Parts: sequence; C-alpha cells; structure tokens
Amino acid sequence: WAVFADDIDAILELKRTRNAVILAHNYQTPEIFHCVADIVGDSLLLAREAQTVEADVIVMAGVHFMAETAKLLNPTKRVLMPDMRAGCSLADSITAADVRLLRQRYPGVPVVTYVNTSAAVKAESDVCCTSGNAKRIVESLGSDTVIMIPDEYLAQNIANETGIRMITWAGHCEVHERFTPEEIRRLRVEHPGIVVLAHPECPPEVVAEADFAGSTAGMQEFVASGKASRVVLITECSMSDNLAVLHPEVEFIRPCNLCPHMKRITLPALRHSLETMGTEIMIEEHLAVRARQAVERMLAL
Ligand code: 13P
Ligand code: SF4
Repeated sequence: WAVFADDIDAILELKRTRNAVILAHNYQTPEIFHCVADIVGDSLLLAREAQTVEADVIVMAGVHFMAETAKLLNPTKRVLMPDMRAGCSLADSITAADVRLLRQRYPGVPVVTYVNTSAAVKAESDVCCTSGNAKRIVESLGSDTVIMIPDEYLAQNIANETGIRMITWAGHCEVHERFTPEEIRRLRVEHPGIVVLAHPECPPEVVAEADFAGSTAGMQEFVASGKASRVVLITECSMSDNLAVLHPEVEFIRPCNLCPHMKRITLPALRHSLETMGTEIMIEEHLAVRARQAVERMLAL
C-alpha cells in the first residue's frame, strides 16, 4: 500500500479543493474502490447515485458510458472521465443508425437498450436497462417480443428467464464471453463444494452451469448473505479482490478475466483528472434530451 499512499493523499486533498466525488464501479481495483471512492456499486447504483450528487464535480472511475449516463442524469455537474480510452466492447458494437434500421425492420416492437451503450444509441431507444433490472424492465413492457440490444447473451439469458421473444444484436462483453461451461465443470472438480456466481453477460451455457446469475450488486448481496463459504465469481477480476477485503470469512477461487477498459482507470489517472479537470464529458443537447428519457424511464420503472 505504501506505493499508493502519495496518490491517495493527493486525490483525497484534490477532492476537497475541487468539491468532487468519485463514483467507482465494482470492477475498479481495490486501492480505488476502498481508498478514494465515495460511492461504489454496479451500473444501476452508480446511475441512481449520480442523479443526486450535490458536489460540483463527478469523477467516474469506470468506463465512458457510465460517465455519459452520470452526465445525462445530473447535467449541471462537471463529469470527468480520467481516461477517454476506457470504452466497452458492447458500446462499440452498435450505432444509432443500427437501431434505426432495427426499428424499420420490426415496426412497433419496443427497444430495450443496455446502459452499456453510447448516448446516441440510448437516444434511439424506448427504455434502458442494466443487468440488475433487465428482467423487470422487459416484463414491464407487456410485449411478447422485445428488441433487446446490444448484448446478445444478456438478451438470451433474459429470454430464458421470462419466455419473452428477443430480437437480439451480436454484441458481447469481451470479458464475460471468454468463460466456458467446461471451465466451470473443471472448477467444481478441482474445488469441491464451491458456489458458482455468474454475470448474465456470460453465454447462456455458462449461466446454466452456475448456481446463481446476477449483476455485480447481486453477486455482492449473495456473498454478504453468508450462504456460501467458498465462491467463484465468473466475472471481472477486481470483483473478487474487492469483496475479499469486505468478507475475509469467504474463500474466493479466482479464475477471472480482466477488463482492459476498466483497468485504464488508475490512481495516477484519477489524480491527473482532478488536477487538470479533464476530460469533461459533453453530450449534444439534441441527443441528451432523448437519451435522458430512456434512462429516466428505466429508473422510474
Ligand atoms: P453491472 O455492475 O451492472 O453488473 O455491470 C457489469 C459490467 O460489465 C459493467 O461494465
Ligand atoms: Fe464493457 Fe465488459 Fe468491460 Fe463491462 S466488463 S466495461 S461490459 S467490456
């Protein structure tokens, strides 16, 4: 921890002088998650909390779409992204023009868009969802067919849970698509008695091998419930690292995959962002108005 001390002290001081808060996703490294973040959580919690931030500045320790969502929900604040290269393979998989084409091909079918998308894509959508509320959002529409984009596996997993027909898009999370059912079966042989928690961005055949599927907040709740003493989290690596600090009584088995985008956010990047007040997220007003509606509709549901 000594190697982090200088940056941590500087960030804590800069937060005071800039009147800033740091929102951090569960996939941030422990020195960010536990030492400098003010609010930590899954995509849904970060969106909800961003809405009510009173500080002048929000620094997003997460990826670009999370910073955009914060800006949509609290537009008078300065929202800073410490590294603009922190993207997402799902957000990169689809454009606003793609959504317009889907609407033309399937007229009248509601479009549910994962928050892991650009503001321009959200602007073409009826409602957003996260992995933590996807089932509820889809069911609330009362439609037997839904266009659910861009995560093909999340859509298939929700279709399996709800029986609703999904028109999907071939977007995948580059972290979760790498897990396989064989890997989980091997883990069960190597570590008898483990409880397997999988993220719904994993392929359906991986989710089928798990004992529980849920968002990162869902995984955290499961671990906190004390239902398991040995767990494997089929998700990004830092999730286990962060929960292991909070739950030393639980053994975490750790085959995991790293998200290169989340890992662009470091203590030096956060410090630099607060020192230079960059890079500020800006969203063109004509897009922001429509994208905000889709995100606010999700939060209302
Ligand atoms: P949640 O934290 O909402 O489960 O999202 C996971 C993820 O991959 C975010 O990029
Ligand atoms: Fe995108 Fe997957 Fe990384 Fe999350 S973990 S930011 S979904 S690539």
